[in-house]
Amino acid sequence: MHYTIAIDGYSACGKSTLARAMANALGYRYIDTGAMYRMVTLHFQRLGVDLADDEAVARALEGIHLDFVPGSNRALLNGEDVEDEIRSMAVSSFVSPVAAVSAVRRSIVPLQQKMGANGAIVMDGRDIGTVVFPGADLKLFVTADLETRTERRLSELLAAGKNPSRAEVAANLLERDHIDSTRADSPLKQAEDAIVLDNSQWSLPDFIAAGMAEVENLYGRR
Ligand code: DC
Repeated sequence: MHYTIAIDGYSACGKSTLARAMANALGYRYIDTGAMYRMVTLHFQRLGVDLADDEAVARALEGIHLDFVPGSNRALLNGEDVEDEIRSMAVSSFVSPVAAVSAVRRSIVPLQQKMGANGAIVMDGRDIGTVVFPGADLKLFVTADLETRTERRLSELLAAGKNPSRAEVAANLLERDHIDSTRADSPLKQAEDAIVLDNSQWSLPDFIAAGMAEVENLYGRR
């Protein structure tokens, strides 16, 4: 079956790790929609776009092409590999206000819908089960406590050679969660038919097994 699997949840709660593992196990394509908002953010930062200037936002969106390297899934902004740059704190600190701009979402959501049009896809983000694919076959809503999320994001950044403080990382996660869940357009919220996976106390293999068990249940249901 070519299911559409939507995975949503808070920042740094393990969505993309789960999504990537499930896509690998199922032979599906994986799309990291957060990377798309991060690419737009980097593009805006480079051009010095003022978010309050609708015309500048529209112009900047016209000159943008977002893609992923097949296989590795590295982010491509107008053909340039920006995978490392979009994970920086500079981009993380500005991405939520950019993602709250309706014109940005209007240009990106159709692209995501096109990427997933044929199914056999695992897509993660904040509004996948509510807005991008409200009819998804399986919707997972991932959570973990703040301490767990901070620890994970901190070790990712340290492994990438960056050196933020724990307090800086925790503050960024909380601020993004707040902006993402209170914005007017497509706020982060659990879809009514989503299954919640809280992985605070789980090992990675248990977490992935829990996600895959929900796919097994789908086979049983059809
Ligand atoms: O998943 P991430 O941390 O890379 O996402 C970066 C930001 O992009 C996040 O703070 C909110 C925004 N985002 C969004 O608004 N909608 C999505 N579907 C995915 C991400």
